[in-house]
Amino acid sequence: MTQVKFHSGRNIPLEMHKVRIIQKLNLLPVEERQAALVEAGYNTFLLQNKDVFLDMLTDSGVNAMSDRQEAAMLMADDSYAGSMTFTRLNNKLIEIFDMPYFLPTHQGRAAENVLSTTWVREGSVVPMNFHFTTSKEHIVRMGGRVIEVLAQEGRKVTSTHPFKGNIDVALLDKTIAEVGAQNVPFVRMEAGTNLIGGQPFSVANVREVRAVCDKYGVRLLMDASLLADNLYFIKEREEEFKDVDVRAITKELASMFDVIYFSARKLGFARGGGIMVRSEETYREMRGYIPLYEGFLTYGGMSVREMEAIAVGLDETMDMDYISQGPLFIKYMTEQLLANGVPVVTPSGGLGCHLDATRFLPHISQENYPAGSLATALYLASGVRGMERGTMSEAREPDGTQLLADMELVRLALPRRVFTMSQVDYAVDRVTWLWENRDLVGGLRFIEEPAILRFFYGRLEPVGDWPSALAAKFRADFQDSL
Ligand code: F0G
Repeated sequence: MTQVKFHSGRNIPLEMHKVRIIQKLNLLPVEERQAALVEAGYNTFLLQNKDVFLDMLTDSGVNAMSDRQEAAMLMADDSYAGSMTFTRLNNKLIEIFDMPYFLPTHQGRAAENVLSTTWVREGSVVPMNFHFTTSKEHIVRMGGRVIEVLAQEGRKVTSTHPFKGNIDVALLDKTIAEVGAQNVPFVRMEAGTNLIGGQPFSVANVREVRAVCDKYGVRLLMDASLLADNLYFIKEREEEFKDVDVRAITKELASMFDVIYFSARKLGFARGGGIMVRSEETYREMRGYIPLYEGFLTYGGMSVREMEAIAVGLDETMDMDYISQGPLFIKYMTEQLLANGVPVVTPSGGLGCHLDATRFLPHISQENYPAGSLATALYLASGVRGMERGTMSEAREPDGTQLLADMELVRLALPRRVFTMSQVDYAVDRVTWLWENRDLVGGLRFIEEPAILRFFYGRLEPVGDWPSALAAKFRADFQDSL
């Protein structure tokens, strides 16, 4: 996607694919969007898709499939045990990652359940670059604790650092020394670090982390859900790899990990998940949980059709034309918003464009969820559905204290190969309008707060009737436009 120069001098990402199946979209008038928000308890997770224009909630399970993936699905071998489909997927994973054993799971968090159930105990400590919501909950559920050892730069919303997902190696070393290696079941490195804005780690950093793990005899595990973006950034930003093929980068990276797990709702443009392991002993240790929680060892809760699609999708993940599409669209969106003065996470990462709600809505305290409020306001202003990634997404401490997030972000995910440039321009336009009307946006408070993963299905209400004021301003400014 990068190679084409425009005569006009403009620098816009060019898709190396064409659209062959479409889905009609619905853009409701602002008054109906306001009513939809009331129905949804001001939580974008609870909106009905029919009321959403551009769904930028997530890139999970909603990336566009290719003609080759669709074709492969027709060839699926549907048997409970020993299907040819499993063999094809298994062989593809071995070909790409060089890891001998594969345990299929129905999605990424199911892999996390198996890993935590196998290894995490009361008092365990799991150091990681940054937590993901479900990965943390599975560790805590087993009595363990997460310690984030992200390099300082990763915590800065605006930065020019190319690898904000890197681990602070000295801090990792100190952490393991302090808690004792026997209490550290594994170190977790998340590729394309989700909650800090889809930020990558470098191969150089993994080498250093590996050395620390070797020093203490601790396992190193990669969450490869967002590996595609991370691979793109390694090739683009890490000098050593600029002329190295994506397959070779993947092999080199994989060789440093003991376990690699993934959500195939992200990696491989389909739906599913799994765990790859290097040692036979580990494989045997975990194997029993697959039939118990997921399904037989050759499908793990996935449909064989999806497994065929993943196998093809993994090949496509080795193709820069495909894996550059997301990061380049996100870069474009980030640059347009920056040019309009809107506060966003920099440098642009993978997964989506991330708005910085702390600077967008400085008048809303973290107890009233600035990121949740911004996601709500954006839906009202545009029909674009984003996701809160801030204090609402944090769990409360066991004593009920509200943990305040380091960052208050709204993620505008760009599912791969799904949106067009004019749709991205529309989102930029409406975010900019909202930025110019930010004083009208108020906070939110819970009226129904679930104990586990509250952000998924908790219900809220606005503090004051700011949604009506915002909708009225929209109507005045845009008149009869949607
Ligand atoms: N790890 C990472 C880094 C993820 O981003 C996700 C999911 C998971 C694990 C869990 O995988 O959904 O297949 O069970 N992220 C989704 C998101 C939910 O919207 O970012 P899953």
